[in-house]
Amino acid sequence: MEGQRAKLAIQDPPYNLVAFETRSIRDYVEWARSWVTTSVASLDADSSLYVWLGADQRDHFQPLPDFMLLMREFPLQARSYITVRNQRGYGTQRNWMAVRQELLYYIRGNPAFNVEAEYTDIPKTLRGYYKEVGGQLTENLERSKRDTIRAGNVWIDIQQVFYRLEENVSGCYAQKPLKSVDRIIRASSDPRDLIIDFFSHSGTTLLAAEIAGRCCYTADIDPIFCEIAIRRLEHFRASARTGWQNGHAFEKELHRTALSPHPDTDADRPTQASLI
Ligand SMILES: C[S@@+](CC[C@H](N)C(=O)[O-])C[C@H]1O[C@@H](n2cnc3c(N)ncnc32)[C@H](O)[C@@H]1O
Repeated sequence: MEGQRAKLAIQDPPYNLVAFETRSIRDYVEWARSWVTTSVASLDADSSLYVWLGADQRDHFQPLPDFMLLMREFPLQARSYITVRNQRGYGTQRNWMAVRQELLYYIRGNPAFNVEAEYTDIPKTLRGYYKEVGGQLTENLERSKRDTIRAGNVWIDIQQVFYRLEENVSGCYAQKPLKSVDRIIRASSDPRDLIIDFFSHSGTTLLAAEIAGRCCYTADIDPIFCEIAIRRLEHFRASARTGWQNGHAFEKELHRTALSPHPDTDADRPTQASLI
């Protein structure tokens, strides 16, 4: 980073069953210590850190509790514990369906918190609460669109990404909605600030930073996801589209492969192109 310090880190590490099949919670926390240390070393004296994390209800809600304990080792202050509501979830007939994602917000020093970015379109959900506004009796839902309503730490207005949405990037199983990352960026950074994200995947933070006029350094351990993130940004710059809906980042290559017959095989044999 050549001495530059970031104003905002948005980290979305793998935390699901894939991580748990390969790592014990102890190893997971050790691993988390290393990237949190690097994050803190890369952050400005006045900065914010957001961490997306899961809570496995079949395993004492891990890694959330042990991760929270780990965070007490760092020179950061816990600021908010946000829950983003998913539309779809997992569960059985014998338990509450799991429809939440956890988002932890920490600060270092005294960073920006842009209150106007925090005004929200989060709808109110309960009817029947009447209040007089400007001499008129208004019902709760009527008041839900006012620009003086502040975003609480339960976000119910964010659509999970699925194949019908323009922002969908096929093959990215853990893509976060742009709207959620945009809200974080506008609340906790200023134009031209530097943002870091070590777990790029579909490049949501990179793209949200571009749209909001911020600079972003991002990485991923998997070169395929690095390539997808680069292509997603280039695709946006060329077309103003935020993803490929039910297309994908490697359409050109696969299209070419599908059209050009392999020299050793029957030229008429159809080729099925698919992205795993
Ligand atoms: C939950 S996804 C991030 C999703 C991303 N926020 C988005 O909206 O597309 C986690 C990503 O972390 C990457 N990853 C796993 N271990 C890593 C490591 N040690 N260093 C960097 N990236 C890693 C995975 O390849 C995966 O793409």
